Amino acid sequence: MNTTGKLRSIDLADPVLGEVISMDHQYFPNPWTEQQWRDLNPALNLLLVWQSQDKCQGFALFGAVPGDNSAHLYKILLHPDCRGTGMAQDFWKSSCLFLKENGIISVYLEVEADNAPAITFYQKVGYKLLRKSKGYYSNGQDALIMELTL
Ligand SMILES: CC(C)(COP(=O)(O)OP(=O)(O)OC[C@H]1O[C@@H](n2cnc3c(N)ncnc32)[C@H](O)[C@@H]1OP(=O)(O)O)[C@@H](O)C(=O)NCCC(=O)NCCS
Repeated sequence: MNTTGKLRSIDLADPVLGEVISMDHQYFPNPWTEQQWRDLNPALNLLLVWQSQDKCQGFALFGAVPGDNSAHLYKILLHPDCRGTGMAQDFWKSSCLFLKENGIISVYLEVEADNAPAITFYQKVGYKLLRKSKGYYSNGQDALIMELTL
């Protein structure tokens, strides 16, 4: 039972998208433009938010092609005030349940090789390293390619 909030799957017309975009801009080193968010294809993407006291505290954006049982985690972010509290794990557990109920059996991702908090978090929730991709990002950073079987 999760005590830190509740999960919602939102569509791109949901007013909470504004909060998501604003968190992305405030707290991600390389945020997407508002247009990139608004241009997301709802048939190919899934946006889950974690709400506590009617406020969006985090979000996770997945690529999920209908008929494909593997999803791609593009972004996950928790408000800085909520990090290190266990909320990320509650959010993740609920997200995995939701994905499983929708036929997803694995989730892969790329993460910057120097993003220690995220890598530690992914390992804690069971992600395995598949490989390292040299110079994957436009800034020359290497990526770790990781996968979780749900
Ligand atoms: C990824 C994210 C959602 C995880 O949430 P969180 O609340 O930080 O996760 P947790 O506290 O459960 O786990 C993070 C771990 O990293 C550790 N950590 C934090 N800062 C660290 C650092 N600078 N170096 C090494 N480890 C670090 C924490 O101690 C914790 O490990 P522990 O539980 O063994 O103590 C959150 O960190 C976040 O929103 N980050 C910014 C966005 C981002 O980078 N997303 C991932 C790429 S898309």
